Amino acid sequence: MSDTKPRILRSVRLLNAAEKRIETDFIAPPPPTTPLDTAAILKLAHEFQPVAILVTHHSPLKGADVAALPESVKLIATVSVGLDHLDVPALLARGIAVSNTPDVLTDCNADLAMMLIIAACRRAAEYYTLMKKGWGHTLGMDEMLGHRVTGKTLGIIGMGRIGQAVARRARGFEMNVLYHNRRRLDPAHEQGATYYESLEDMLPKCNILSLHLPAAPSGGPIITARMLALLPRGSVLVNAARGALVDETALIDALRSGHLFSAGLDVYQNEPNPDPRILALPNVFMTPHAGSATVETRTAMCMLALDNVTALVAGKPLPTPVTA
Ligand code: DGY
Repeated sequence: MSDTKPRILRSVRLLNAAEKRIETDFIAPPPPTTPLDTAAILKLAHEFQPVAILVTHHSPLKGADVAALPESVKLIATVSVGLDHLDVPALLARGIAVSNTPDVLTDCNADLAMMLIIAACRRAAEYYTLMKKGWGHTLGMDEMLGHRVTGKTLGIIGMGRIGQAVARRARGFEMNVLYHNRRRLDPAHEQGATYYESLEDMLPKCNILSLHLPAAPSGGPIITARMLALLPRGSVLVNAARGALVDETALIDALRSGHLFSAGLDVYQNEPNPDPRILALPNVFMTPHAGSATVETRTAMCMLALDNVTALVAGKPLPTPVTA
């Protein structure tokens, strides 16, 4: 191993192609067998003096953690598009660059959102549970009925790359797509969706509501009891963005009362141990924060994070920098 190669840390074992690249191009400790938490990363960073650290949302770097990073660290490359686990202003203020992995995960995240939409509308969780128990009786004509997805009105909150990709897919299901965003998009990017400046005006029109925005820096939920009450009775909520966006107690109440027909969730307030009251609900289809979890996308994310490190050490502009 030549000591001229850049020294890096990663908080998790990466995909094989990226691990091979690390072996060839960088000096790094052996890949962790289980994800490292923040304390373990900081300890290792002081021992190892890396120029860059690759992290995921499992290993937040905020407040005192940022101050505790050694001087050697010049880049935090998060293997995610989301940044809510990082105190970006504090990192930038310390002269530490930040990069993330946008674009490469857009399609897989949108595919997963469609899976949640269809699964929640068509009672996939209940069907799966019934089949695992052996099925055993022919369903009556009106037994365990779901709701048709085709032609329904889908409301999207957050019309960035992923929101737009969901709107494109929804058109294939002949859905009427509405969206709420900080600002209206150029019509060329609207995917035929209708803009609502006011969320309060859009919600009563939605059969299905899907969230595609980052968690607010304040961390407060935008889907509160008041917002859920604005949705029509029997509607469906899908969240493949961030758990912090939803008041889970209000969600549980709405699912128990039947105000919401069902929910499709990939993200939770308390990961990886979601509220047991959610786990117990029959009308929730759940996945384990797996929006980007395909071989193709995770490989592309790892490679893009390493591309950022390579650019940094070469003194070139980062391919996907995060700015203040
Ligand atoms: C992302 O990329 O932000 C995913 O949600 C994984 O954290």
